[in-house]
Amino acid sequence: MPTFTYDGKTIPFAPGETIIQAVHRAGIEIPHYCWHPGLSSPANCRMCLVEIQPKTGTKGVSLDILQWDESIKDYKVVQKPKLQPSCYNAAADGMVVLGDTSPHVHESRKNVQEMLLLNHPVDCPICDQAGECKLQDYWLEHGQYQKRMRDEPVHKPKAVVFGPTIVYDAERCVMCTRCIRFMDEIAKDPVLDMRERGNLNEIFVAPGRELDGHYTFMVDHVCPVGALTTTDFRFKARVWFLRTASTICQGCATGCNAHLDYDPRKNEAYRYRPRENDAVNKFWMCDEGMLSYKQAHANRVVEPLVSGDKATVPAALDAAARLFANVPKESVAIVLSAKYSLEDNWALRELGTTLLGTKAVYWSGSPNGYEDTILIHKDKNSNTAGVKQLAPEAKPMSALLTDIGAGAITHVIALGASTPGEPDADTEVLRSATVVTIAAHGGPITRAAKVVLPAAAWAEHSGTYVNAKGLRQLAEKGLELPGSARPAWQQVAALAKALGLEPTWTKLKQIRANLSLDAVDHPAQIHVVERVGSEV
Ligand code: SF4
Ligand code: SF4
Ligand code: FES
Repeated sequence: MPTFTYDGKTIPFAPGETIIQAVHRAGIEIPHYCWHPGLSSPANCRMCLVEIQPKTGTKGVSLDILQWDESIKDYKVVQKPKLQPSCYNAAADGMVVLGDTSPHVHESRKNVQEMLLLNHPVDCPICDQAGECKLQDYWLEHGQYQKRMRDEPVHKPKAVVFGPTIVYDAERCVMCTRCIRFMDEIAKDPVLDMRERGNLNEIFVAPGRELDGHYTFMVDHVCPVGALTTTDFRFKARVWFLRTASTICQGCATGCNAHLDYDPRKNEAYRYRPRENDAVNKFWMCDEGMLSYKQAHANRVVEPLVSGDKATVPAALDAAARLFANVPKESVAIVLSAKYSLEDNWALRELGTTLLGTKAVYWSGSPNGYEDTILIHKDKNSNTAGVKQLAPEAKPMSALLTDIGAGAITHVIALGASTPGEPDADTEVLRSATVVTIAAHGGPITRAAKVVLPAAAWAEHSGTYVNAKGLRQLAEKGLELPGSARPAWQQVAALAKALGLEPTWTKLKQIRANLSLDAVDHPAQIHVVERVGSEV
């Protein structure tokens, strides 16, 4: 692989890569605003300028500049190397690039910062981006000067509603055009553009349109400053109070990698941010997915229910044991769930097919929905592929409803609450059987169940989900368990004991060993929490 040096460090690069791309991959940050690894490079912010040293025996490109000379009390002409945007210049073998070690680059970064902040409102205390803002970060790293401009700053439109999800503040905008390029290049809806010139520049929405569709949240995410905010997160939390867990979006079978930001003081989720994974979602998520963090709290089952009434865990387990006493195994069915982790489904399959000895295995999940060619999958379940890997023989929910109607199945142990059919009709048929379900949320199955045991939602425990491409992906625990909720695999073990059976698992690692999920795939079995920080 060819290499170049950046501040004396050897950086390998793939032919065609820019300097900033290769340096970024090596874990070193060159300050930047307009560059984003998932978008084209307009090289308009000039923050990423570097000094490329001339090859031996050649004269590099330089500029004449005027520099104040205190000894002669006048300006004099000096030569300065012409700095180059590292986001636009391709890396070349043997190239010598200076960043932090070049005084010219230092001066340039400071000047760019000063120019960007000339008219910028100093309202960090009320700005949603505070704590994860590139202007703040770079001012500390490369600015730290006294403001020289004494004029009234130029005022521009504030709190402009771009659409149902996004609000724009033109005074905070650094005109990096990332939002324009995202809508054009990724969302394929070039609805944003720039108008006016110089310090009157602003972003606007195409006349007759609003910023809408399935990917509007991403313009807030790519904005390096506080110019774009989402109506969902705006003014809700200060990011330095938040912690983040690496998780998997549960919105569809794509399985986008996400950061779940939550406030540990309130045990409350506040937002999703996309987590880079080149093989799945690159840098992006859809709006429906971005908002699906709310499912961590909405419509939750947190205490056991017996015949619809709240009960204690022992009472619910006793009731389940009574309902399943002396039932022939041929009449018992288990229902796996495409919305629960591989570990949870493994435990229920083990209880059904190994301990109870039933052959009646079914699976359920949410119905199909909208799809596109960018990210969104029509399968609205996070683990359909995992269930199919675990139990290829499992029949769909419609077959269970038929078998209950025919009297072949009288007792059901289910995971989850969703069915892909008509919720009310499905509930009605399920009511004619004796159903025990382990569920995190309410739905058609919990409404029909005689006993409901509360399960952890995906955000509250560590679990593995297999996406539509067959990739096994880990979602870390973030939130603490509410009420009596426990990971479903634990509730299945408790139910097995209540039924007089001996579960073969007591720990998550035993299940993972059975599933060949090793520690390399799952380094986050330990609960890792990070502070929320700024990104690319
Ligand atoms: S709104 Fe944000 S992303 Fe768009 S040009 Fe301004 S600073 Fe860049
Ligand atoms: S595409 Fe699917 S997995 Fe990705 S963010 Fe949207 S709903 Fe979530
Ligand atoms: S990041 Fe290179 S010019 Fe903006």
